Order: sequence, then structure tokens, then C-alpha cells
Amino acid sequence: MSENQDQKLYLPSDAAVKAARISGMAAYDRLVAEAAQDYTGYWARLARELISWKKPFTQVLDESQAPFFKWFADGTLNASYNCLDRNIERGLGDKTALIFEADDGAVTRTSYSQLLARTCQIANGLKALGVRKGDRVIIYISMSVDGVAAMQACARIGATHSVVFGGFSAQSLRDRIEDTGAVAVITADQQVRGGKNLPLKAIVDEALTLGGCDSVKNVLVVKRTGNDVAMSAGRDRWMSEVVDTQPTTCEPEWVEAEHPLFLLYTSGSTGKPKGVQHSTGGYLLHAALTTSWTFDLQASDVFWCTADIGWVTGHTYIAYGPLALGGTEIVFEGVPTYPDAGRFWKMIQDHKVTIFYTAPTAIRSLIKAAETNEAVHPRKYDLSSLRLLGSVGEPINPAAWEWYHANVGGGRCPIVDTFWQTETGGHMITPLPGATPMVPGSCTLPFPGIQAAIVDETGADVPNGSGGILVVKKPWPSMIRTIWGDGERFKKSYFPPELKGYYLAGDGAIRDAKTTYFTITGRIDDVLNVSGHRMGTMEIESALVSCTELVAEAAVVGRPDDTTGEAICAFVVLKRPRPTGEEAKKIAKTRSGKIMRRLLRSIAKGEPITQDTSTLENPAILDQLAQTN
Ligand code: PRX
Repeated sequence: MSENQDQKLYLPSDAAVKAARISGMAAYDRLVAEAAQDYTGYWARLARELISWKKPFTQVLDESQAPFFKWFADGTLNASYNCLDRNIERGLGDKTALIFEADDGAVTRTSYSQLLARTCQIANGLKALGVRKGDRVIIYISMSVDGVAAMQACARIGATHSVVFGGFSAQSLRDRIEDTGAVAVITADQQVRGGKNLPLKAIVDEALTLGGCDSVKNVLVVKRTGNDVAMSAGRDRWMSEVVDTQPTTCEPEWVEAEHPLFLLYTSGSTGKPKGVQHSTGGYLLHAALTTSWTFDLQASDVFWCTADIGWVTGHTYIAYGPLALGGTEIVFEGVPTYPDAGRFWKMIQDHKVTIFYTAPTAIRSLIKAAETNEAVHPRKYDLSSLRLLGSVGEPINPAAWEWYHANVGGGRCPIVDTFWQTETGGHMITPLPGATPMVPGSCTLPFPGIQAAIVDETGADVPNGSGGILVVKKPWPSMIRTIWGDGERFKKSYFPPELKGYYLAGDGAIRDAKTTYFTITGRIDDVLNVSGHRMGTMEIESALVSCTELVAEAAVVGRPDDTTGEAICAFVVLKRPRPTGEEAKKIAKTRSGKIMRRLLRSIAKGEPITQDTSTLENPAILDQLAQTN
């Protein structure tokens, strides 16, 4: 790789260009031109090339119910057939699909044939319990082979999974169970992270007592630690008892392309998380396509995406994309800092990982650790197997990019800084490793076919060099289909009328005047991004005020943080014993009761207040807050 000092452009090496599937900018430009010339023809070609259809589609894009778009609507397919059976039919049955490394370092390899057999057993087990096509199944489990197999099993029988991250509370789990109306929950007795046993089943039990969960008829429990957990007769069953004796084959349920493959909850501007609904056909296409072009996944690669299956990154780049291409991937149960902060580097060395995909927060915290402890510095490990690095979830600051590039990538690996969202299903703006010259901190150019643009509040294009609102002008196959059960909110959140029918991402962005590259400037709504995790300020506020004994009022804003990107800054008025004065009982609310977040944001950042404060109920509070901050 060579570096052009003037523009800080990092060019892919000739060898990288030659080896890559999308080789050189001319190849990128050809794809962009193909999509511009015949948008639906472009996606149809790729959908035929990458996906095996049971019944081929004849319709490509149906815009008649916009913004409820349909893709490939009359085609049928099965996602698990595409990820498993198809690879075995191509002779990959004995190839390792998953290299699972447990928290304590124990390694298990699962071949494609074994993963298919396990998936079919779970699928048959779910069917035996009465789970049918269209039912929703909650998966509340940590990183494991059964976690991936459970997702595939749901897909196999046409049940819609909704994975809930194992760190979420009983209340959050309950909310998701109620909103989905799930008939079953798949969980484990406990989870193991950083050398500690943490509860899972006990939290499911608590969630189910909080009300609104009558839809749940069965709870399937994987034995992870074997420690005692309560089992409720008639409702709870050990996974092994239900599943291990089931046949290892299960005919896939062929579903329509628009059949909901999964619901995944994410934070929005209001207190209630949104159940993002994804399709089967369009989603799987983009999962496979981006794994192929952005990660350039080849037969000999060992791919490692460090995300958890509880997040969209773990869906697209663990549970579906790499498997759809017949790849070998790492599934890691633990945390990057256990037993020490060299864990990632040691695992890359041990498993000869070739493609590594992680979040800027992890990189920044590992930089800190390496600076104080030479033993966990990446240079202490043999990382020569790596050929490509990726970044996801939040903006990567140029300093972290440079460190990642030099110390992990040995100066030779391209970095794909992939911008996307739960709602987009897969990468939207990203370099392609054998084509795009890279600029640290920029996610560069739209993925071929994605019509990303920057506009003002009226939907008019802004010139390069001026910031604005990030939109996508045309529907794309893996886009969110709706918010589960709330089509109105879907329309309002993502397709506001003033934006001419464009998809509103919720981020601000700017294009460089010279390179035309995109840089994401951060959320423009009341959503925080803490360590790459999306959190709604109102969600955190409701959690705080739900401590009714102690908290009178709460207001939450973000504050820039060197490690986590953004930190939560909560202004809390306690009922006792502080503060005492009546005046302190009004945070920074207007007379109509609206929190003036921009003021709190300025205070949190230590900036002077320049905004209009005349509508505040108690303007004197600002000085008081600034002093206590
Ligand atoms: O603000 C953007 C940021 O993460 C948000 C999406 O979060 P979530 O739905 O949880 O999905 C995260 C994994 C895809 C976006 O609206 N974001 C994500 N990737 C990047 C990013 N910001 C800057 N650069 C990125 N590469």
C-alpha cells in the first residue's frame, strides 16, 4: 500500500487490486454506471447470481405502496437453504463454517454439514413445540454455535427471529417479547463473559413475570454452565431434551421474498425502541453481496466479525453473509480484555484470521491498553495472516484509523470503514478493498447501487463541501420494510414528506469537495452512539425516572468521549437529599415542559451558551448546572 502524503490517500497495493473481486476504481465505476442505467436490472442480475431461488422472481421492485417497498416479491427462497444446504451441495460439507472460541479459550469447529444437522434438529424441535411459519421467536443467548443455529433454524421453518442482546435487562426483554408477540424464547442457563457467569434464564423468568408475555408458550434452555436454574414445568425445557433426538434433516419452508426474516429492536428518538423488520430475499442478497464485495471473502479466508449476534452487525456478518458465501468464520463468546487486552491479537494469531472487522471503540480501548502494557501490544503477536481490516458502528477518528492500519494491519491491509445501520441491513457507504483509495476517518463512497446523497431540510442537494442530512434517494433491496406493528411511525421516522420520499438515515454527513468522499458527522436526532451502541436519550431518561423513589426529573445528552465516542451525560434532579432549592427542580426545561437538549449538550461539552434561553422556565439553572458539571 502506498501513501499519498498531500491528500492522505491510502491506495490499495497493486497486489490487493489484482486479487480483489472488484478490482480497481474502473470496476467500481462500471457497477455504479450499470445501476444508474438500469437500476432494477442491476439488482435483479445480482439477486439471480447470489441467491438460490426456489421459485425465481419475475417482479423486481414494487413501488405501488411506497414507502412500503417490495423486492423480488413473487420469488420464493429459504435463507437457511442458501447459507447451509447450498454449500454442502457445492462440496463444502466438511469445510469449517464456525470456529467457536469460548470465553475460557476452548475451541470447537463446526463444519457446514454439522451446522446444517444442528439447525435441522433445532428446527424440528421448534416445530414439535408447535412453532409455525410467521410465528416470532425471541433468542436471548450469548455468542455460541447454538445461537447461530437457532437463528438459522427459525429461518428454516419460516419463523421470524428477534435476537435480544444478552446484556439487556428483564424489562427490555419483556418489552420486546410483548411487542413481537413471540411464542417461544430460546435462551441458556447462563452466559460466560470475562471469566464470570452471568444470568440469562433468570432474566427470562423475571421478564415473563412482568406482564404482557402471555404469548410465550415455550422456553428452550441451552445448558451453558450447568449451574442450577429454575425450570417452570410445562413451559421450560432443556434444549438438549427437545432437540438432540430430532432428525438431522428438515425440509426448508420456502417463503416469499418479503417474508420477515427477523425483527431487531433499535433505539429511536422516542422512548420506545423500534422493531426493525427485515425481509428474506432482499436482506439476504445484500448480506451476501456486501460480504463478497466489501470483505472480498474468498474460499481460503478466515473471517472474524467481533460483533454480537444481538446487534445487526452480528446478524448480517456472522449469522448470514459469510455463511451465504460458504466462508469460515470465528464466533467468539468472550470480551476483548479477558484474560488480557491481547485477546483479539492472540486469536488472530491462533486462528490465522485473514479478515478482521471490529468497532472503533474496541480499537481505542485496545490502543490505551497497549500503550500502558507492552505485552498486549499487537506487535507482540504474529498478525501476518491478516489481509483486510474493517470498522463499523461509529465514526473512526483518524488517529485510531492510523494506529489500526499500522499496528494491526502492518501497513499493508486496507481498512473498510463501513457506514450502515440496523435499518439498512448491510453496508451503505464503504471503500471496496481492491478499488477505493482510503482517507482515514471517511467511509468514502456509496456501495455500488446505493443512491446516498446529502440534502438540506427541503430535500435539495447541497454542494460538496457543505454538510447536510444524509439520505438514500432510491429504495434498495435490504432496506427496513416497516417498524413491526407501526407503519405510521415507520413512515414518519424514515420518509418525512419534506424530503421528497428519500430515506432519512438520521445522520449528518459532508462530502469532500475534492474527493467527493462522505464523512459522517453524527446523529442529527436524539440518539446517542456510545461505544457503537445506539441509545435513545428518552429511553435513558425513562429508565432514570422509573426510579420513582429517588429521581424527580432527568435529561440526557451526549458528550464527546475519547474512548467510547460519545458518553452519556445525565442531568438528574433527585427527590432527596440534593438539591434542596426549589429552583434546582427544573432541569433546563422550557415553560411548555420541553427539555432544551442543545443547552444541556453545550454544558456537557463545557462550551459557552450562545443559544436563545428566553423560553426557559428557570434561566438561572444554566449557571448552576455549568458549575456542578
Ligand atoms: O450514526 C451512525 C453510526 O451508527 C448508527 C447506526 O447504528 P446501528 O443501527 O446500531 O448499527 C450499527 C452497525 C451498523 C448510524 O446511524 N455508524 C455506523 N457505522 C458508522 C457510523 N458512523 C460513522 N461511521 C461508520 N462507519
